Amino acid sequence: MERAPVSKVLVVCYSRTGRTRALAAALAERLHADVEEIIEPGGRSGLIGVLRALADTLFHCDVRIGGALNDVSAYDVVVIGTPVWMGTLSAPVRAWLAGNRRKLRHVAFFSTQTMHRETNVFRDMARLTRKQPVARCAIAGHVRMQDASRLIDAFVERIERKLARIDNLKWAA
Ligand SMILES: Cc1cc2nc3c(=O)[nH]c(=O)nc-3n(C[C@H](O)[C@H](O)[C@H](O)COP(=O)(O)O)c2cc1C
Repeated sequence: MERAPVSKVLVVCYSRTGRTRALAAALAERLHADVEEIIEPGGRSGLIGVLRALADTLFHCDVRIGGALNDVSAYDVVVIGTPVWMGTLSAPVRAWLAGNRRKLRHVAFFSTQTMHRETNVFRDMARLTRKQPVARCAIAGHVRMQDASRLIDAFVERIERKLARIDNLKWAA
């Protein structure tokens, strides 16, 4: 479904090792969206980075992230992606949601993870944003390419349907 770019979409993600970033870029291209990566001043590379990630998640630590590059409130739908850390969202995405949740109109969530296990990531993101997502998409590590494409197609389609409704309302106004 090709859409006229009336409604605005922002894809926001955090990525430590690149998987969530790659998915964010693919989604942004398909949704004609702007992209914003959440950056931490210190980074989280290597074993120290992993240990910090574990500790920050376990103890719900406040982490410092770079300022927003885009005016989040200008977007109709914000698509937010995170790697799964200990069954929930990553600390930098938690920090971003805390700072921006009031500016969000509609949200969609995606995550990448290693294992094919149920997680609390979307439940926790919905609690933090106090919004039910338009669509959700979890991509596990060893999922077959074909299955991943099917999940991504369904995710994009659900968001596009929402955008079409927003566009219709805008045209009618
Ligand atoms: C601290 C930490 C905790 C993780 N916890 C989980 C987990 O609970 N379940 C899981 O399937 N993968 C877990 N992973 C793996 C990441 O979710 C997975 O590698 C993800 O795709 C990485 O995304 P990125 O490349 O965008 O950083 C964890 C990784 C790290 C660093």
